[in-house]
Formats: sequence, C-alpha cells, structure tokens
Amino acid sequence: MPEISPSILAADFTVLGEQVRQAELGGAQMLHVDVMDGHFVPNISIGIPVVESLARCTDLVLDCHLMMTHPEDYTQAFVDAGAKMVTIHQETSPHLGRTIGKIQSSGAAAGVALNPATPLNTLDEVLADVDLVLIMSVHPGYGGQSFLPASLDKVRRLGELRRQSGHKFRIQVDGGVNMDNAEQLAAAGCDILVAGSSVFGADDIAAAVRALSARANLPALVNA
Ligand code: DX5
Ligand code: ZN
Repeated sequence: MPEISPSILAADFTVLGEQVRQAELGGAQMLHVDVMDGHFVPNISIGIPVVESLARCTDLVLDCHLMMTHPEDYTQAFVDAGAKMVTIHQETSPHLGRTIGKIQSSGAAAGVALNPATPLNTLDEVLADVDLVLIMSVHPGYGGQSFLPASLDKVRRLGELRRQSGHKFRIQVDGGVNMDNAEQLAAAGCDILVAGSSVFGADDIAAAVRALSARANLPALVNA
C-alpha cells in the first residue's frame, strides 16, 4: 500500500508541531524533511536542529532528503538527531556504496535520489544494497513546482527493474505530487509519495493526507 510522506518544506514553521499533528491525524506514517545547502541546490532550508525538534514531538518516521554536497559528513548527525531514513543524491556521492553502508550501519534506512536528468542505470551497482530509490519529479531546490511528466515512465522502468531483479528497495517520488498524479504513480510502482504543497498548502491538512492516500491506494484496490 503506497504511503504518503508529507514534506514539511511547505509547512508553516511558526506552528510546525501543530501541522505535524494534523498530518498524523490524516494517517501519515512518515514525514519528509528537505535539507538544502545552497550549493547542490540553489536554496537553503532546514537542518539538524529541526530534525531534533521533530523527533521530540512526533513518532512519525523522519525521512530526511539531503540535497547537499558531501552528505557523508552529515549522515551520522541526522541519524543521531532522529532520522530513520536518510536519502543522499547520486550526483553528490562519488562513493555511493560506502555512504549507503555508513547510513545503514548507523541504524537508518538508506536512500539514493536521482535528479530528473540522471539516468536509472547510474544505480545499477547499488540497487541490491539500497533501501530506497527516490525519483525526483521536479528539479530539486523548491517546493510548489509542476510534476515533470517524464518521471512517470522513469518510475515504471524502475518498478520493472525491481520486479526482474527481485531487489527489495522501495520507490519514492518527490515533487509536484498531487491528486492528479497519485493514482498513476502508485500504479507505476511508487511506494512512497512525497507531497509538500498539496498537503501543507491545503486548508485541511489531515483531509489532504487522507484524500491523497485514498487516491494512491486505488490501484491496489483494483488489483486486489
Ligand atoms: C524539492 C523537494 C521536495 C518538495 C516537494 O526539492 O525535495 O520534497 O518539498 O514539494 P511539492 O510537493 O510542493 O512539489
Ligand atoms: Zn524532498
């Protein structure tokens, strides 16, 4: 059953704890935390102290997406702060296998993200080891962008690759996810839908999580 990982990048930080509770109420099981360094991506967002605060106020799985150069220098700090999933970018990680191993030995699940222009085959040598592959469906750096339609086929091809290989990684999609594409993404093989503006930009955050989750679970119901 596909899960929703609401991205707090679109939340109101003055009432973050309250908005996280709304996401919990809507049935979210994880929370996506976008860390941007102003180098790998042109924007700066939030970091370790916010993860620590979140860990104190919620039991949701903290899913940290590190859009930064040299992520290997910080993965341990994010895990110590409470991250249960740490995703690094292929584009910033020349020693991808080593960093995946480092995240896993610190006790978190390890994800690798691909920018829209980065081909799937750059992960061929790590797919057996990684816990999650994140397909970026916008160019990373900002919330509220439009979903790039070519991402759907990329998810499909990755799903097929997983089926053929028997590997166990989960597939996550991030960027421009909303009620219009959730069902197709789930049908294409996506297990985790990251949603920022379509959740935290809604008047009723809990209802938005519920609706998106219902939409994403339609393919599973049809195939049941
Ligand atoms: C973009 C971030 C996303 C972003 C998604 O660089 O990685 O997680 O918060 O936001 P929406 O859902 O608004 O596209
Ligand atoms: Zn993200």
